[in-house]
Amino acid sequence: MITIGIEGTAHTLGIGITDSGCNVLANVIDMYRPPEGGLHPREAANHHADAVASVISKALSEAGLSVKDIDLVSFSKGPGLGPCLRVAATAARALSAKLNIPIMGVNHCVAHVEIGNATTGCKDPVLLYASGGNTQVIAFANGKYRIFGETLDIGVGNMFDKLGRELGLGYYAGPTIEKLAKEGDKLLDIPYSVKGMDMAFSGILTAAVSLRKKGHRLEDIAYSVQETCFAMLAEVTERAMAHVGKDEVLMGGGVVQNARLRDVIAKMAEERNSKMHVPQPRLCIDNGAMIAWLGHIMYSSGVRMTMDDTKIDQRFRTDEVDVTWR
Ligand code: FE2
Repeated sequence: MITIGIEGTAHTLGIGITDSGCNVLANVIDMYRPPEGGLHPREAANHHADAVASVISKALSEAGLSVKDIDLVSFSKGPGLGPCLRVAATAARALSAKLNIPIMGVNHCVAHVEIGNATTGCKDPVLLYASGGNTQVIAFANGKYRIFGETLDIGVGNMFDKLGRELGLGYYAGPTIEKLAKEGDKLLDIPYSVKGMDMAFSGILTAAVSLRKKGHRLEDIAYSVQETCFAMLAEVTERAMAHVGKDEVLMGGGVVQNARLRDVIAKMAEERNSKMHVPQPRLCIDNGAMIAWLGHIMYSSGVRMTMDDTKIDQRFRTDEVDVTWR
């Protein structure tokens, strides 16, 4: 069974194609880059609408398939930015109607877990999902993927992006902050914001900007922000692992590209006699292959959707998904 997946929750338009064995036959990623300032949902959606037909063609040619070979179309139903989600849903509905094939709207966060399960060999992990739009600690418990901790305000990646803009480091500043942090050695006073099992990142942004105004080095600010945020993520992930009694941690989301975050989590896992699993970089960031794969396993477990079920859901919660395939 060949499934095409359309990812469009935020800045990334991704088209992936998978087969029944989770072989990724194509995984084309086309990221919207704002000319200046931050990401405007409408402009990102316009980018996706302009690019979607050509990115689908590119994915088909990468897979060596024709559009007639597709058996199922899956798309990111949520959570995400409304205008972007609508483009992905519209493209999926058009393919489904034109090819007369079934359609599946899937939860983006659960897709991160399932592509990790299928490609890294982990069985029943706690997922640390750290990206621009989302920061959640997720695990399977009592029949559902449940959120054990999450950000109360902005995603950690979004905080890095905002900090990058404030400090003049450009958009998608994560890699620049990581590079600067390697040269930092002074741990500055940044609020460590873990509240119960949840986290907050906007106060860290405010503190970091004010430290810069006081004349601190960019390197020390980047170092302090990273160390504080990653310690927070490790604390919440570790407590979730202890609470649900799991000995695997799976990483997902764009912030996982940061080697220091992987180091911190790997150390925590090692100290708990647990194992850290990291999907390939292109399966870790937002991508269409994970959307295709989750659509496939949902369909195989008997889930069916009509066009009426394909309405997007900007606030689609991880724990709203009925896990029929485990
Ligand atoms: Fe994501």
